[in-house]
Parts: sequence; structure tokens; C-alpha cells
Amino acid sequence: MAFGHEKIEKNVGLLAILIVVAISFGGLVEIVPMMYQASVVEPAPGVVPYPPKELAGRDIYIREGCYNCHSQQVRPFRWETERYGDYSVAGEYVYDRPFQWGSKRTGPDLARVGGRYSDMWHEVHLRNPRDVVPESNMPGYPWLADGLINAEVMQQRMRALRRLGHPYSDEQIEAATGALENVTELQALIAYLQWLGTRQPVDDKTVAAAGGQ
Ligand code: HEC
Repeated sequence: MAFGHEKIEKNVGLLAILIVVAISFGGLVEIVPMMYQASVVEPAPGVVPYPPKELAGRDIYIREGCYNCHSQQVRPFRWETERYGDYSVAGEYVYDRPFQWGSKRTGPDLARVGGRYSDMWHEVHLRNPRDVVPESNMPGYPWLADGLINAEVMQQRMRALRRLGHPYSDEQIEAATGALENVTELQALIAYLQWLGTRQPVDDKTVAAAGGQ
């Protein structure tokens, strides 16, 4: 059809604007339904908000830039599931703000590292990786053992997350003071790593109600 086509093709500005409009529609059609799909926006069975110590460890993980070398997403391919365990589902990440999916894998994926090693292994590894994995090129983080977690800041973080919809109760926020007393950054980071990919026990009824994931 001759209608306007020639005009658009000869007018780069108009062409650019219309391309952006066309692409935005494509984006919206993909993104908007996701915002309402239960399997994407609701926690998978057994997924609960991070307790204060694990939450503090998560902040250290972000501060130290661990995501530059580690992803946290097991993709649905056989070579991934055989190495790392079940592939990740969206409902596992509803309490991750911001997400730590990452895309760079200098080191292994950490989405299911919880429980794979002992706390002691992590402690030695984080201080100097080469003490347990001689060929490792991961940097050591010895200073984490000296830093202490600030409970008050973590309580503010929990309140902020509650505003965004994380179901922390007043009691949980209150209890953070005790839970974080004399906790080092190293201990918090290890608690976070041990939490990754583990879900809290739930009964069969809850699993069935959520679609049996
Ligand atoms: C420069 C890249 C790099 C950075 C930054 C890095 N790592 Fe690693 N990480 C690696 C590599 C490579 C390995 C594999 C060798 C090893 O186990 O040390 C690894 C292994 C690990 C493992 C063992 C995983 C497994 O399944 O065996 C954990 C846990 C880990 N890193 C945590 C962290 C944390 C926490 C941080 C941030 C404080 C971090 N890493 C920063 C490269 C990195």
C-alpha cells in the first residue's frame, strides 16, 4: 500500500520514532502479563524472606562484587542440572531485591550452593580460596572476619523491604537485634551462602495448593 510508506522511509526521524513505538508494543506484550502471573510473582513453596543474618550476608555479597564472577541461576539444560541441581524457577527469587542472577561465570553458579560445603570450608575458602582449591583464581576476602554487622541498619533494611511487600513481622524485625549481636561479615556471608537454594520445610498441602512445584 502506498499510504505514507514512502514518506516514512524517506524521513529518518519519523522512521526511528515509529520503530521505537513498534518495539515498545512487542516489549509490553511480553512484560505486562508477567507482572500478574502467579507462578512468577508469588513465592515458590518453602521460599520465605531472608532472615536478618542471611540478608546482611547478601548485602556483603553485593558489596564485594561476588556477582562479577558468579551467577545465581541454574538454566534448564541437562549439563547445568547435572552439575548444579534442579533448574531455577521464578518463584524462588521473589525476595531477591535486586536479583543476583548475573551472567558471568568465572566461578561456578551459586544458586544451589547452600548445604554443599560446611561452614568451616566456606570460612577457609573465603579467607584464601587456594587453601582448599589450589588452582582457584578467586580472590581472598580476609577482611570480612574483622567487620561487624550493624543490627540497626539491618532493621531499617527489613522495614524498607516490608514496604515493598516482604512479609516481615514486627517480632522478626525486633529479633534482629539479638540475632545480629557480634555477627561478623564473614559469618553473615556464610549464612547467606548456606541459605542459597534451600527452601524451608513446607507441608504437602501448601505444595499442592501452589500447584505442586
Ligand atoms: C575473580 C572471580 C571471582 C570472584 C570475584 C569471586 N569468586 Fe567465588 N569462585 C571463583 C572461582 C574461579 C571458583 C572456583 C574455584 C574455587 O572453588 O575457589 C569460585 C568458587 C566459589 C565457591 C564454591 C562454589 C562451588 O560450588 O564449589 C563459592 C561458595 C564462592 N566462590 C563464593 C564467592 C563469594 C561469596 C564471593 C564474593 C565475596 C566470590 N566467590 C567472589 C571466582 C570468583
